[in-house]
Amino acid sequence: MIESIPTRGRTLDMASVVYDLLEPLCLLGQQKKINNHLVSLLDVKSCDKVLDVGCGTGVLTKLISEKMNPTEGGYSLGIDAAGKMISAARKKRGNTACKFEAMAAESLSFENETFDSIVSSFFYHHIQFDLKQKAFAEAYRVLKPGGKLIIADMHIPTSFMGALTAHTSRWILFQPQIGENIKGVLPELIENEGFSYPKTVENYLGYVTVFSANKGNLF
Ligand SMILES: C[S@@+](CC[C@H](N)C(=O)[O-])C[C@H]1O[C@@H](n2cnc3c(N)ncnc32)[C@H](O)[C@@H]1O
Repeated sequence: MIESIPTRGRTLDMASVVYDLLEPLCLLGQQKKINNHLVSLLDVKSCDKVLDVGCGTGVLTKLISEKMNPTEGGYSLGIDAAGKMISAARKKRGNTACKFEAMAAESLSFENETFDSIVSSFFYHHIQFDLKQKAFAEAYRVLKPGGKLIIADMHIPTSFMGALTAHTSRWILFQPQIGENIKGVLPELIENEGFSYPKTVENYLGYVTVFSANKGNLF
């Protein structure tokens, strides 16, 4: 058994068994498209080291790892504070190019400047404002200079249906962290921790935004 890591974030130990069935339904069949888009934005090299923050059962981590060559030092690594998510991820998807560790995003145990790029999907609406700040600060610390940060998460809704879904889930799930996201806190938080101001790359489902930022100036 893998122990969960203490955090004030909303972890999903209880959902680990059904997560792979529920997530595609919640995203109305868009999960594959969004994940493929995130991988294309990462634009990884086979020797890169990529961190997936709040990886759940590791579907995106695995997709990234298919671009990696471990003999060249390349791998993708997913972290999640829920021990059961990490157990499920390792069992279903773990290999030398695709690794998983139980860890809290606000307290990463990696050395400074370990990763070439960092990705995160549907994680930041699970943690409250101060943890969002700490998690972005930690992402900045462990990313190499010039590295990319790619985020897909709930943000200011762009359609009536998107607003309905986002506000309903905030209240049904009693999740004020979603309320913070849909007020639009993410871009400034990302910039305040040292990244470039994130570009909005795409909107999905009227409430999910894909952001791209860098650590430092690429030019
Ligand atoms: C909605 S799931 C997203 C999973 C996956 N990235 C995906 O796109 O399907 C959010 C995940 O964040 C994890 N989580 C919550 N708080 C966390 C924290 N402080 N540090 C790391 N993971 C956390 C939960 O356990 C859960 O697996």
